[in-house]
Amino acid sequence: MDLSVIVPTYNEKDNISEIIDEIHKEFINNKIKGELIIVDDNSPDGTGLIADSLKKKYSFLRVIHRKGKEGLSSAVLEGFSIAEGKILGVMDADLSHPVNKIHEMHALIKKGQADLVIGSRYIPGGKIEGWTLNRKIMSKSATYLAKIFTKAKDPMSGFFMIKRSCLVDKNLNPRGFKILLEIIIKTDCKIYEIPITFINRKEGKSKASVREIRFYLQNLLSYLPYKRKSFIQLSKFAIVGMMGIIINIFFLYLFTEIAGIYYLISAVFAFLIALAHNYLLNKIFTFKERIRYKFFTKFLQFSAISLFSLAINLILLYILTEMFHIYYLISQVISIGLVFIINFAGNKFWTFR
Ligand code: GDD
Ligand code: MN
Repeated sequence: MDLSVIVPTYNEKDNISEIIDEIHKEFINNKIKGELIIVDDNSPDGTGLIADSLKKKYSFLRVIHRKGKEGLSSAVLEGFSIAEGKILGVMDADLSHPVNKIHEMHALIKKGQADLVIGSRYIPGGKIEGWTLNRKIMSKSATYLAKIFTKAKDPMSGFFMIKRSCLVDKNLNPRGFKILLEIIIKTDCKIYEIPITFINRKEGKSKASVREIRFYLQNLLSYLPYKRKSFIQLSKFAIVGMMGIIINIFFLYLFTEIAGIYYLISAVFAFLIALAHNYLLNKIFTFKERIRYKFFTKFLQFSAISLFSLAINLILLYILTEMFHIYYLISQVISIGLVFIINFAGNKFWTFR
């Protein structure tokens, strides 16, 4: 069998017949040999019963009934566990995802162009219709946070397809809604995104709640060990930064005391030397780039981030000291901590990306 599409449902009585029929047509029209697996959490509105009654009409349909509302991600995993297709797809029941993209996604994996295809709202050509501004901001912020872990533009999408072999022996257990992000982090597959228009549901209610934010943040924390490489980079960046401080002070002393230069002028030169030192070491040691690769452009980028960081440092120092009445040396420790993160992120994702 080629393809298994998993559709988790909870209270989707007004959508269930239509989504089944649309997926069925998509399979027939494109000669896809596959099955549709509905995973229902004992929906109080009777979605599971409706699905059962449609099994006579659609032979490609299977229905799993679970005891109660156990969550979207675990429903998807349960679907995966009984699926027979070589390729596994996931989509929502509420007609938010364009069913007519299924054959395109399927073909991309079959041809070997990708292991994982994401129906993406956040690449050119993709969009969202009918969401409130609030929901858009939430989604964007969550997606932005996920940048720590992946380059994918829409790792929160609920519409994707994956080669089954990618999932073998991967220990997936996300809480809440965001199963795709965990799949991306824990597997190592070739990702391809195609644009989709996400249309907000016309029938029924979204099951997303504030609780999902907590689940999401908990999930993110649990993924940190998967970022070993970034963690090592962060540590190296910190070491280089501390060496830079020592160099700065050393040259400040040298120029002022030995060469007899006015100390404010000395400080400018000491700063520039430390800047060059930090740049060089971060280029070759922290981010492991060839030294000559875009040497000057990147030096300018690195310097720009340093100046930007200095500005943020001063602003924070001022705010914490004057407005929050924190002792200025403590304020400085706090702002250096924050500025360090900004500095690191800026260089990782811009200068040395
Ligand atoms: N079995 C089961 N159990 N299904 C569930 C559960 C559950 O606890 N919670 C939700 N579902 C089903 C819904 O019935 C629907 O088919 C699908 O999962 C998505 O639920 P919605 O309530 O429609 O979610 P949404 O539209 O707010 O969120 C969608 O878009 C997000 C992108 O921002 C989902 O696709 C998310 O996965 C996605 O991250
Ligand atoms: Mn929805």
